[in-house]
Amino acid sequence: MNVASHEHYLRRSLELARAAWGETHPNPMVGCVIVEDSQVVAEGFHARAGAPHAEVMALAKLGRAPKAGAILCVTLEPCSTHGRTPPCVKAILDSGISIVVVGALDPNPAHAGHGLDLLRQAGVEVIEADGDLAADCADLNMIFNHQVVTGEPFFSLKLAVTANGKVAERPGASSVITGPEARADVMRWRRLFPAIAVGAGTVVADDPQLTARLPEGTWCPRRIILDGKLSSVPSKGNFPKVYSDDYRASTLVVTAVGSSPSRRAMLAEAGVTLSELPADESGRFPIADLKKLCAKEGLTGVYFEGGAIVARQLLDGGALDHLFWYESPKLFDKEDAPAAPPLASFSLHGKRSIQFGPDLLTRGYLT
Ligand SMILES: NC(=O)c1ccc[n+]([C@@H]2O[C@H](COP(=O)([O-])OP(=O)(O)OC[C@H]3O[C@@H](n4cnc5c(N)ncnc54)[C@H](OP(=O)(O)O)[C@@H]3O)[C@@H](O)[C@H]2O)c1
Repeated sequence: MNVASHEHYLRRSLELARAAWGETHPNPMVGCVIVEDSQVVAEGFHARAGAPHAEVMALAKLGRAPKAGAILCVTLEPCSTHGRTPPCVKAILDSGISIVVVGALDPNPAHAGHGLDLLRQAGVEVIEADGDLAADCADLNMIFNHQVVTGEPFFSLKLAVTANGKVAERPGASSVITGPEARADVMRWRRLFPAIAVGAGTVVADDPQLTARLPEGTWCPRRIILDGKLSSVPSKGNFPKVYSDDYRASTLVVTAVGSSPSRRAMLAEAGVTLSELPADESGRFPIADLKKLCAKEGLTGVYFEGGAIVARQLLDGGALDHLFWYESPKLFDKEDAPAAPPLASFSLHGKRSIQFGPDLLTRGYLT
């Protein structure tokens, strides 16, 4: 039996896994179906950390012993060790299922393949996905995969760029680059990541909300503002939305040791959390230290949304793990329009492209 005959069921399992989009951190999203006589007879997905795993949920939904020849299709290798729940390998063996189709291996090198070995040793036929299907199953858990292997948060940068490589019309100017379809896609990624980060310049120029506004509702992840000198905190006038809206308790301002005590007091009074990092004489702290801070905060992934100065540090400092590059057909022709490095200068692997209206998203992992 080969995996091609199971692609349809594994694709359905992927769809189920996505039902918990952004809900499972620090765990992966996983979906599972049980198939009997070419029919899906039970479905499951991992809803959140601590909730039953997808395989266990599907077996429970079935509510009886699977028929002889039943197939279990799951997007991620079944776990073989005791976490918060008993190992899924045991649940599968106890159920008597004799064929298991798996989308992606456990990314943790200490466990990868172990669950499949145990199943095979017990006489279960194990079929592993390959090609695009395997890549889709692995890509679903980009944040989990990175965190589990490196122990560090997954840093991803989103850039919207004109056809001539510009990220704004003029320095500090709020500029619309992409169309509504691409902006809707950004909302989806905002919903996935546990945190979004921008520099002080973007807060001043755009006054963004940094929330995920989706048809099913609004969601606010942890909002991180990089602001060494607290220049995004106005001494008079209106506070930016990230410091004054209903979600302001989700905002974390990372500033330099010794930054303005009066501005710190204003943020504290507004209910905004502040963290400090040692910085150089220009008030900038190293991105590597920010990564450590995010890890301490329990954040497994951060979606950076610019602006140009933050992007440059991520790219130059080697701290970037993944890039979302939305290219619009627009042109900004002012000489002082800030530019991004050309896409060709990034060595991306696992590259994917998708068109959103007039804009093209290219995304991939940095080596
Ligand atoms: N095209 C896009 O995808 C996109 C996305 C977002 C924003 N933008 C545009 O980009 C422009 C804003 O970008 P920008 O480059 O001016 O600003 P930015 O990158 O958003 O913020 C830069 C400022 O953040 C603070 N900062 C950044 N890194 C820091 C660090 N490591 N330590 C301490 N503080 C740090 C610094 O503030 P101080 O200098 O005060 O210390 C720095 O000047 C706007 O025009 C906006 O519309 C474009």
